[in-house]
Amino acid sequence: MAQEDIFKKLVAHCKEYGFVFQSSEIYDGLGAVYDYGQNGVELKNNIKKYWWDSMVLLHENVVGLDSAIFMHPTIWKASGHVDAFNDPLIDNKDSKKRYRADVLIEEQLAKIEDKINKEIEKAAKRFGDAFNEQQFRETNLRVLENQQKWDALHNRFAKALNDGNLDELRQIIVDEEIVCPISGTRNWTEVRQFNLMFSTEMGSTADGAQKIYLRPETAQGIFVNYLNVQKTGRMKIPFGIAQIGKAFRNEIVARQFIFRMREFEQMEMQFFVKPGTELDWFEKWKTTRMNWHQALGFGAENYRFHVHEKLAHYANAAVDVEYKFPFGFKEVEGIHSRTDFDLSQHEKYSGKKIRYFDPELNDSFVPFVVETSIGVDRMFLQVLSAAYCEEQLENDMRVVLKIPPMLAPVKLAVLPLVKKDGLPEIARQIIDDLKFEFNCQYDEKDSIGKRYRRQDAIGTPFCVTVDNQTPEDNSVTIRYRDTMTQERVSISELSGIIGKQVSYKNLFAKI
Ligand code: GAP
Repeated sequence: MAQEDIFKKLVAHCKEYGFVFQSSEIYDGLGAVYDYGQNGVELKNNIKKYWWDSMVLLHENVVGLDSAIFMHPTIWKASGHVDAFNDPLIDNKDSKKRYRADVLIEEQLAKIEDKINKEIEKAAKRFGDAFNEQQFRETNLRVLENQQKWDALHNRFAKALNDGNLDELRQIIVDEEIVCPISGTRNWTEVRQFNLMFSTEMGSTADGAQKIYLRPETAQGIFVNYLNVQKTGRMKIPFGIAQIGKAFRNEIVARQFIFRMREFEQMEMQFFVKPGTELDWFEKWKTTRMNWHQALGFGAENYRFHVHEKLAHYANAAVDVEYKFPFGFKEVEGIHSRTDFDLSQHEKYSGKKIRYFDPELNDSFVPFVVETSIGVDRMFLQVLSAAYCEEQLENDMRVVLKIPPMLAPVKLAVLPLVKKDGLPEIARQIIDDLKFEFNCQYDEKDSIGKRYRRQDAIGTPFCVTVDNQTPEDNSVTIRYRDTMTQERVSISELSGIIGKQVSYKNLFAKI
């Protein structure tokens, strides 16, 4: 099945099984804003716990913070967001549709890349085991021609972005003959910058209300609390501050479901280091974060680093961790060496000294910062994209979410085989005993096969069935989601078996 079709099915599945709903759906929805349902919120909380504990529990020099969404408006002036947090936009005069100019060009690059990949796939099929991809890339004329096209376009695009040259961005769109997908024409306006921050007002108009912004990243809440945390926590450099919270961006191209939203959640960690050591720490955090992703077991080949061509105004090095979504490799997380830009700017704008006194140097300095920043929602989509499987069975078909057991919304379902002979009571008792440890679900409706399918569809890793043998010897069957194999075990063993598999320790050991 085509990857786009799988993605459409995944989106429908998310709604059908209570993972994600369109916000304000009964009023026809609100663009690029989503709500998480009964299963979605559990998965989201588990992802957040995996991240939080991997930062704060595993690193004695990383502590947490929960700063407010509303902040003093000067913070956004100091951080550069008022002046530079922009997207280059272009309109098609016929369809009146607005696009991000950089996204149109990136899509053109992706088309060329697709052509190359198709040639490679065809050749790989033709030559089988004897296929040497590198040699093919270096010698096949069609691949070489497309690679040259890609390189030329890429260099021109990167230069235009780095120079902030909006006319050149438009010229690339014209030269590449990029058409509007709606009108099919090339009737484009100029490219303009558009600020992505939402603003609102605080206080009544009579008092002279103050314009404030909804934060577009959680990081600034960490920077402005650097001194508070460092002093009250007696933190010694290097140390980090981690935070999970909502962020808001008035995204123009909001697409691909929860991949790009206007209200979303970030998990960010700012690591404060001695100037000159930041690039070493940048490398260390790159490794740690890639290990965190790959520990989930979705296949190392599905992840890659993407080095930034255009560095953000605050960075001296930056990479993205990309995952192979059904719509291609895309960013899940950003890792940035942010220099001392933010703290220095806040020193300048607030007039307060934001320094670290180093007793070894007997001197003070503005710390440099390495940031890891990942979107909760994007990570959620990554997990579901990787977990969604359609499996053909002997007489049946099943949709199963192979979510790692630690992240699964429901850990076990307890199912009495029949609704009589005291089996429901035993099933309830099992849940009463285990509910303090695991999120459990009771289900007695329909055939056992249908009940298994319902649990597969929400990714429940264990189904425990209470049958006629249970009252005799206190044993039940435990069914494993991925293999569908069943084992007879004693009720007293359940906590141990399940506990071992859902423990985050299994993941942490791999980081
Ligand atoms: N503090 C740095 C920062 O915010 P970013 O690359 O703009 O960097 C970090 O964002 C992460 O936040 C991204 O890798 C992505 O996972 C998530 N993110 C950013 N914009 C998003 C959006 N509109 N919707 C969902 N997630 C988003």
